[in-house]
Amino acid sequence: MFKKLWRQRVELVEADLIRELHRTKSLDEKLLQAMEYSLMAGGKRLRPILLMAAADAVNGSGEKFITVADALEMIHTYSLIHDDLPAMDDDDYRRGKLTNHKVFGEAMAILAGDALLTLAFEVVLRQRDVAPEILLTVLREIGTAAGMSGMVGGQVIDLRSEGVKIDLTTLKRMHMGKTGALFKAAIRSGAILACASEKNLDALTRYAENFGLAFQITDDILDVTGNAAILGKAIGSDAKNFKSTYVTLTSLDEAKNYAQAAVNEALLALKNFGTEADFLRELVQYLITREK
Ligand code: IPE
Ligand code: IPE
Ligand code: MG
Ligand code: MG
Ligand code: MG
Repeated sequence: MFKKLWRQRVELVEADLIRELHRTKSLDEKLLQAMEYSLMAGGKRLRPILLMAAADAVNGSGEKFITVADALEMIHTYSLIHDDLPAMDDDDYRRGKLTNHKVFGEAMAILAGDALLTLAFEVVLRQRDVAPEILLTVLREIGTAAGMSGMVGGQVIDLRSEGVKIDLTTLKRMHMGKTGALFKAAIRSGAILACASEKNLDALTRYAENFGLAFQITDDILDVTGNAAILGKAIGSDAKNFKSTYVTLTSLDEAKNYAQAAVNEALLALKNFGTEADFLRELVQYLITREK
């Protein structure tokens, strides 16, 4: 049931993503190709799926908000293109294909990322049947999450922590920023679009924070124990770059315990929801067993 709905939603998102991408005219054909190459390269589509699942948990309205969901995937894809650049993690494979800069060159990869990020804000504004004040709230959520107090801020901590010893508090802040912020924006946006009560929004926010943490701890673990062919990206990228991760700061076993603790917290946050939140429950439990 859970996997089936996930697959259906992936199909829905992918069909919509390509449509939204082509609704804006690109001045340059190569730029559009570079954007499409990474956007349509696959991926788990977790952020759009979480946005829809949060709205479903509130009142079953998930699919109505697919346009905002698309925008999150565009921001996420931009972050991956830039994350893989030689100046950042210098990786050659992503989503089972050569990284954007390996195919299109560094300058085009930077610009394709920039264009996906800016397109995302245009796409949010295409969302239909939502009151303008709600859409403005969502725009603020997403803008804040993507920038210096969220994803970009976390990425900077990540880069500045290469080869230096940081404490667990800083590591957690980095993970909550570089990865957690966008997950949190996805879930909060879904809840806000579905007009969730304060109480439900708070509960879903707590779920989201723990989801993000468990997700990135597992990403750190998979960078050591994963299978590159399944993951679609090279393993050992963190060691190559002397990154600070849950595995280097604690140990593999302890990292797994931290991930499990975050999953437990996420489940606890949903205690007042009924079966309408089952998808969210199954998703966060699947996280720590995932192979990709
Ligand atoms: C990878 O994200 C980058 C991180 C934030 C850890 P995902 O594991 O969600 O990547 P895709 O979208 O499935 O490729
Ligand atoms: C990347 O974290 C987070 C963002 C892209 C914002 P990682 O550098 O650990 O992600 P992977 O392992 O390359 O997917
Ligand atoms: Mg990185
Ligand atoms: Mg990376
Ligand atoms: Mg990683």
